[in-house]
Amino acid sequence: MPESVADTTPDATPLDSLVVASAEAADITTRVLVARDAYYRQDAAVFSDADYDLLVQRLAELERLYPELQSQDSPTQTVGGRAETTLFDPVTHAERMLSLDNVFSIEEFETWARKAAENSGRAVHYLCELKIDGLAINLRYANGVLVSAATRGDGVVGEDVTENIDLVPGIPSRLAGTGHPLLMEVRGEVFFPVAAFDELNAAQSAAGERVFANARNAAAGSLRQKAAGKNTDQLRLMKARLGRLRMLVHGIGAWENPPVQTQSEVYGLLEGWGLPTSSYFRVVPSVAEAAEFIEYYGAHRGSVVHELDGIVVKIDELALHAELGATNRAPRWAIAYKYPPEQVNTKLLDIVVSVGRTGRATPFAVMQKVLVAGSEVRQATLHNQDVVKAKGVLIGDIIVLRKAGDVIPEVLGPVVELRDGTEREFVMPLNCPECGTPLAPAKEGDIDLRCPNARSCPAQVRGRVEHIGSRGGLDIEVLGEVAASALTQPTVPADPPLSTEAGLFDLELADLLPIQVLVRDAETGLPKEDDGVAKIRMPFCRNPNPAEKKQGLTGLQPSSNALKLLVEIEKAKTKPLWRILVSLNIRHVGPVAARALANHFGSLDAIRAATREELAGVDGVGSIIADAVLDWFQVDWHVDIVTQWAAAGVQFATPGHAGPGAAETAGGVLAGLTVVATGSLEGFTREGAQEAIIAAGGKSASSVSKNTDFVAAGPGAGSKLGKAETLGIRILDADEFRTLLAGGPDGLAPASSPVST
Ligand code: IVH
Repeated sequence: MPESVADTTPDATPLDSLVVASAEAADITTRVLVARDAYYRQDAAVFSDADYDLLVQRLAELERLYPELQSQDSPTQTVGGRAETTLFDPVTHAERMLSLDNVFSIEEFETWARKAAENSGRAVHYLCELKIDGLAINLRYANGVLVSAATRGDGVVGEDVTENIDLVPGIPSRLAGTGHPLLMEVRGEVFFPVAAFDELNAAQSAAGERVFANARNAAAGSLRQKAAGKNTDQLRLMKARLGRLRMLVHGIGAWENPPVQTQSEVYGLLEGWGLPTSSYFRVVPSVAEAAEFIEYYGAHRGSVVHELDGIVVKIDELALHAELGATNRAPRWAIAYKYPPEQVNTKLLDIVVSVGRTGRATPFAVMQKVLVAGSEVRQATLHNQDVVKAKGVLIGDIIVLRKAGDVIPEVLGPVVELRDGTEREFVMPLNCPECGTPLAPAKEGDIDLRCPNARSCPAQVRGRVEHIGSRGGLDIEVLGEVAASALTQPTVPADPPLSTEAGLFDLELADLLPIQVLVRDAETGLPKEDDGVAKIRMPFCRNPNPAEKKQGLTGLQPSSNALKLLVEIEKAKTKPLWRILVSLNIRHVGPVAARALANHFGSLDAIRAATREELAGVDGVGSIIADAVLDWFQVDWHVDIVTQWAAAGVQFATPGHAGPGAAETAGGVLAGLTVVATGSLEGFTREGAQEAIIAAGGKSASSVSKNTDFVAAGPGAGSKLGKAETLGIRILDADEFRTLLAGGPDGLAPASSPVST
């Protein structure tokens, strides 16, 4: 967006500033009108909502600074959409359908709320409700009978979609109850519930059809279909889609003297007549409580059945609606608080294939950096070549990117209208981009392609080495992504110090010092250059200091990281057996399974000697992990890793362990007890809670049954909690859980609730 022209209104407008502002306003107006056209007539988004809002905001700012720029048909004064070239018959609304003004911060909201209250001159109530991300519809009822349903159009004339609305569940064609007015317009939003939208897109994707970029486009596209010209299959599909839409009403249009005093009473009345009203609203007496409502849903957007892009706050008293009135565009008695967008548009610069620790070749999107839901995003996984195809994205496209809260960013699809012909299709490589081995599915029918060169593919070795250094592995702080890459893929020496992880415990300073790596740009990942020459770094060396130079010490000096890495690797040799097991990178053997195996068997030799049944019989192991362990030992180079690590001094047995099964027999404070940990228990990660149960000799189970002895539950515990209550199982909070782990059941105070063990 262009920067502000000025912060305050100039006293006299210098002509050149006015000319510049006028050109900018004209440019914005054109862009907004093009975007509106695409949005209302083609159900497509040229800009993301956020960009659109920014443009209109900027135009309003220019018009505030230079009032001479404002015209009656400015996008700041009009409601979007034109209806003239539509397939549908026009319907003139009995009362104009307005839009809403937006605010983007709590301060702006408070300013609006205070002003509205002051202008009204008496105490007001704020009706807070969710801003449904859907399609505005006007239902016209005459004596309780639905006579037309229309889109908003330009606010004056909309499109007649009555036939299609008849197929949307929950919209009565005849109102229930009595006392219906002669004419009543009810306004609301038609939307795709989030779950139905996800299912729709999954089905589109499975059928090789284009997926919808968002739920609103899908709702608009579904509602603005014409039955005429469709064959039976297409009709069935159209009806099925309409049947998944829902509507919620959020206001009224023409209605002479409604027999109520407040907007919330209007909802009560409409609900009584069988119209679908939202259950997510609250009437509050203060600005502060309205702000609380805004903040609450800002953090809980995902808990609602429909998409929401903000909160609408309305003055509840209907008398004040008339008093406060409206501008050309929007009422003064209502405001939309817009949340930071969870969906933005950005450019897809490239699709790059990366190979991970397990050899899976994953295409991912490299995008122009963009701020979404409060964090910067420049990469997102595209999972596999079929997903790339299903999403229909081309390299160079403007794409829609979504990131909700802490959820991983997802590419939704392209903005096809913005293509200029320079975009190109992504082609999945036939060979591993890192080692050149032909990619292949692990087994017939798999969609994912893998690099079969597990032993030596540098990407896979790098991934495994990084995994060994990770917290759940040997927890070697210095052995992260950068060190793993330097050890396995340096530019110098030609033969990397680690061609597989087998040599990890034999590393010496002499192996580290000569390592050279390319300096890469943090943003693009591309090598940085100095006058056309790639920049090189020696990650394990430092420059000698002046005193050392004086002493003639000028050669390669180890960095503190190099020394730390060697010390840490030495220490790791005697870390607990479960950490060593995780470091072997056996499929499915993460910290929990590794602990269970280590606790039961006490040594790698005992694990290797165990039968499938013996392995699978260990609590927390099971047959899938048992098979993975057996398979792992069948591979020669895996066994070589064990041999070479053992020769380097790695300890593959728990000192003092008395052999298979001994730990369980000896017991811990939770011996013989089954505990389920659920929800977020303060002070524990989910895995940490499971490990703590196992370490105390208990069994950590994932589901509640009559064999469960305790359920440790934190916020967000969900259905497991209900089941525990039904079965009368004692429920512990995080503190009680800690007491249980430390001293067993005897240490717990008697249960305070009627449910107890
Ligand atoms: S009240 C005259 N309430 O958002 C005021 N509108 O961006 C009418 N919308 O045109 C609007 N949820 O189509 C209202 N709870 C809600 C809403 C809502 C979604 C739509 C509506 C409006 C648009 C403005």
